[in-house]
Amino acid sequence: MTQEKKTPFSYEDLLESLAEGVIAIDTEMKVCVFNQSAEKLLEVSRSLVVGKPLGEYFRRNPRIAEMLKETLEEGRLFAEYEEKLFRRITGDTIPAGITTSQLFDAEGNLKGAAALIRDLSGIKSLEEGSLRKERLAYLGTFAANLAHEIRNPLSGMRGAAQLLARRIKDPAHSEYLEVITKEADRLNAILNGMLDFAKPAKLRKKPFNIHKALDSVAFLLNEPGSSFIKSYDPSIPEISGDENQLKQVFLNLVKNAKESLSEGGVIHLTTRAITEFHLVEGGSAGRMVSLEIKDNGCGIKPEDMEKIFTPFFTTKHKGSGLGMAITLKIVKEHGGHLKIDSAPGKGTTVTVYLPLA
Ligand SMILES: Nc1ncnc2c1ncn2[C@@H]1O[C@H](COP(=O)(O)OP(=O)(O)OP(=O)(O)O)[C@@H](O)[C@H]1O
Ligand SMILES: [Mg+2]
Repeated sequence: MTQEKKTPFSYEDLLESLAEGVIAIDTEMKVCVFNQSAEKLLEVSRSLVVGKPLGEYFRRNPRIAEMLKETLEEGRLFAEYEEKLFRRITGDTIPAGITTSQLFDAEGNLKGAAALIRDLSGIKSLEEGSLRKERLAYLGTFAANLAHEIRNPLSGMRGAAQLLARRIKDPAHSEYLEVITKEADRLNAILNGMLDFAKPAKLRKKPFNIHKALDSVAFLLNEPGSSFIKSYDPSIPEISGDENQLKQVFLNLVKNAKESLSEGGVIHLTTRAITEFHLVEGGSAGRMVSLEIKDNGCGIKPEDMEKIFTPFFTTKHKGSGLGMAITLKIVKEHGGHLKIDSAPGKGTTVTVYLPLA
C-alpha cells in the first residue's frame, strides 16, 4: 500500500515518540522492534534485546513472552490485559495494560506479533488513592445517613404494630401484625449491616483463641440437620484481632456455607498454621493462620464469582447481599486475605488467612 500524502516524519519517528512501549517479534519469535518507551518501562536497552529470541530477556516477565507467543501461534488477542511488569534495574514492579495483535503484510501473510504496553501506575495510584477513597467515603456517609433516616420511622412502625397486637383478638389479624414486626426486624438487620459496612475501621485488637470463637459461631448455627466436621490445628497460638468483628466474619461465612447446603450437606472447618506464606500482593512474608470453611453445597456460578463482594449482590430470596462485603472489609483491615474456590453443584471452599502477631 502506498501512502497518499507524505508525512513529515517516518514510521520510525512515530514509533519512538509513542508513550506506549511497543515490542514486536517475527515468526521465529525473535524480537525485531523494541521502542524507546519499552526500554524505559522495562529498564532494558534495546541493544540487548533486538535480534535475540523472545524468551531470553523476558525471563523475569514471562507473561509478556507467553502472550506474544499465544498471539503469534494461536491468534489469541489480549486487550488491556493487566499485568505487573518487572523492571530490570530498580527491581520493582509496575502495573501495565498489555494489548497484543498479530502482524500481517500487505498480502495478508502472518509476519509476526506485537505487544503494546501501557504504564498504568499513574492511573492505578489515582484510582486506589484519592478517587476511590473519596467515592467510598461519600458512599459511606450516604449509607449511614440513609440508614439513620430509615431507622426512626421503622421503629415507630414496629412499635405501633406491637401496640395494635395487644388489642386484636382475631388470630388471622395478629398473624399479619407478626409479619409486619418480623419484616421490620429484617429491615433493621439490613440497616445494621449497612452501618457496619460504612463505619470507618475501629479495631479493638487483643489476643484471643480462634478455635473458641469458631466453636461459639458453629454452636449458634448448629440446628438439627446440619453437621460440622472440625479439624483444628492445636499448635495455633492466640491470634491478635478484634474478636467480635472476626466472629462476624466466621458467622457470615459459616452461614453462607449452611445456606448453600441441601439435605445431608456437611461443612468442614479446618484451621492450619502456615509458615512462610507469601501474600500475593505486596510480597510480604510472615506467619499466618488459615481457616478453611468448606461446604458441599450449590456452589457459585463463575459469572457470579466477581460479584459476591459487591454490596447488595445476592442470589437468595431473603439475603441482604452484605455478608461477603463486610467479611472482606474486616479481613483486609486485619491484614488478611480471602481465597475462594467454587464449583457449581459441587461446593465452595472459602479460606481466610490472618496474620499471626
Ligand atoms: N458458600 C457459598 N455457597 C454458595 N454461594 C455462596 C456462598 N457464599 C456466598 N455465596 C454467594 O454469594 C452471594 C453473596 O453472599 P453474601 O453473604 O454477601 O450475601 P447473602 O448471603 O446473599 O445475604 P446475607 O449474607 O446478607 O444474608 C450469595 O447470595 C450467594 O449467591
Ligand atoms: Mg451471606
